[in-house]
Amino acid sequence: MPGPGSYLIGKEEIKEAMDVLESGHLFRYGDLNDPAFKHKVYTLEKEFAEYCGVNHVLATSSGTSALMLPLMAIGAESGDEVIVPAYTFVSSYTAIIFAGFIPVLADIDDSLTIDPDDIRNKITDKTVAIMPVHMLGNSCNMVEIMKIAEEHGLYVIEDCCQAAGGSYKGKKLGSIGHAGGFSLNIFKVITAGDGGLITIDDPNLYELVFGLHDQGHTPDRAGVQVGDRSILGLNFRVNELTGAIALAQFRKMDLIISRLREIKSTFKQRINNADSFQFRKLNDEEGDVGTLCTVIFDSQEKADKVCKALGTDTVDHSGWHVYANMEHLINYFEEIGRPIELGSFQKTDDILSRAVNISVGVVDAGLGAGWGMNIHSDDKEIDEKAEEFIKACKL
Ligand SMILES: Cc1ncc(COP(=O)(O)O)c(C=O)c1O
Repeated sequence: MPGPGSYLIGKEEIKEAMDVLESGHLFRYGDLNDPAFKHKVYTLEKEFAEYCGVNHVLATSSGTSALMLPLMAIGAESGDEVIVPAYTFVSSYTAIIFAGFIPVLADIDDSLTIDPDDIRNKITDKTVAIMPVHMLGNSCNMVEIMKIAEEHGLYVIEDCCQAAGGSYKGKKLGSIGHAGGFSLNIFKVITAGDGGLITIDDPNLYELVFGLHDQGHTPDRAGVQVGDRSILGLNFRVNELTGAIALAQFRKMDLIISRLREIKSTFKQRINNADSFQFRKLNDEEGDVGTLCTVIFDSQEKADKVCKALGTDTVDHSGWHVYANMEHLINYFEEIGRPIELGSFQKTDDILSRAVNISVGVVDAGLGAGWGMNIHSDDKEIDEKAEEFIKACKL
């Protein structure tokens, strides 16, 4: 079972889902005064907005659509660019591409998130937005990123897919930029199988995003609003069953995060004296979700040796999240005449070849986190894993 939320699916999720099934009302819209309408999606949106401290939340079909819709709302002109890190899931790139923009990749730093200095290097007169990705449960350097965005008049769309519930300098992730996109897939902090959430403060941006996600309709529609629709849209709606399960999971999110933080802090203390590595730099330690513990070894040889002993891989070999392993993305860049290849982002390549993701709550070999703990790990298991790790470091 991959993400911490998926380990905890239980009677609360069953109750919320049964509520919907027994009502027979599966569509996300309905009359709030009708007792047969259980309004799970509305409730989830309301509670998540309050939690994040934003005016609006819109539930969508996936994290990918949650990132794409705000970009579609901004609107791309030919050749417009969005700066995004070279270490992220392919969806960050496809959301940008399918919204009509060109992704421009920037290096990461030893926080494994986008390096603000390289954002500055990548700005051109076609840059419209930055997509910082809060990778592996921890925030980007949002002070620097917002400063750059303000200086250059850029939008900031936060990719919060791996960091639901995380914060930066006291602000919830997703509430700092113009919009934030969250994923509810099975690898995430909380899950509904699939699904997404968008956080937005600005009411005009929210209306646009809402219309794009639902055939041009305005928020909280009761009917089909014939004659009143000003834009064309698509269908990225979620239904009440997804809303019900996500709602039950959301109400467990703080408990999940507090347990992950305990496990991570115990494990970090246990391995603190082992040799030849540093913990990943955290831009905000207090706001860390705690899903993973990333260590960066002094050399690639050492990282490989430790990984071999543990039966895991360095992040550069993990497959899914590394630009150089995305043949379809490489083809795309070739086709648009901006070729990239392994070696195009040397700082990123170097860090990822020495980095190892240890699972704390997200068990995902595709993230390089096939080894480690999970949300049910007790002190005995944490000790055992720590000993195994220390032993591997001594080889
Ligand atoms: C950083 C990041 N962005 C975007 C996504 C896309 O989310 P989804 O799978 O819900 O479309 C993911 C999911 O794996 C992700 O990890």
